[in-house]
Amino acid sequence: MNITTRRATLDDAPQLADIARRTFFDTFTGTCTEVDMASFLEAYYNLDLVKAELSNEQDMYFLAESGGQLVGYLRFMEDYASLPMMKQWKALELKRIYVDKPFHGQGVAQVLIDLVFTYAAEHQYEVVWLGVWEHNKKAQRFYEKYGFVNSGHTHYFPIGNTPQTDFWFWKYL
Ligand SMILES: CC(C)(COP(=O)(O)OP(=O)(O)OC[C@H]1O[C@@H](n2cnc3c(N)ncnc32)[C@H](O)[C@@H]1OP(=O)(O)O)[C@@H](O)C(=O)NCCC(=O)NCCS
Repeated sequence: MNITTRRATLDDAPQLADIARRTFFDTFTGTCTEVDMASFLEAYYNLDLVKAELSNEQDMYFLAESGGQLVGYLRFMEDYASLPMMKQWKALELKRIYVDKPFHGQGVAQVLIDLVFTYAAEHQYEVVWLGVWEHNKKAQRFYEKYGFVNSGHTHYFPIGNTPQTDFWFWKYL
């Protein structure tokens, strides 16, 4: 599979919002109520918000494409809001890495995560960190394969009224 990546632009907002909603739904459906899922998607993945995020130069969205088709996306940013203790380092938060279901297991996420590490090295970051749902074992295995470890710190991440806990993983560079 030939996978290319590029930084997303404002013109990509509709297709980015679309894949973001679909992959979030595919990953978390059944872990919360349908109402909570619908309200979460509307609150965090609506087109206006995606456009605003794409307009922020610091907010790094990248698309993975194959054969002219969008197959996954990545979002990372230097943003300490969710975990202020990271301020002691020059740190990047890996906010999202999602691959569309039909393309799982074909190396798309590998290409995307390599992009984060290359960016981090080029900009002298000391650590990359991320939140992952405690029961998302597949993603945890993926991160561990690339050298992330469970920091032991957790984070409350509700989907609507459904309580969920995320682990903070990090990788020192
Ligand atoms: C976790 C996730 C991002 C991984 O994406 P992916 O593109 O399937 O990952 P990769 O293909 O790079 O690697 C997955 C496996 O496929 C294998 N693989 C990679 N390229 C391959 C190829 N050409 N042929 C066969 N297998 C391949 C990898 O070695 C890896 O094997 P492993 O099970 O031993 O780790 C993806 O499952 C996903 O989007 N999940 C839902 C969203 C999610 O949970 N995101 C994280 C939220 S915190």
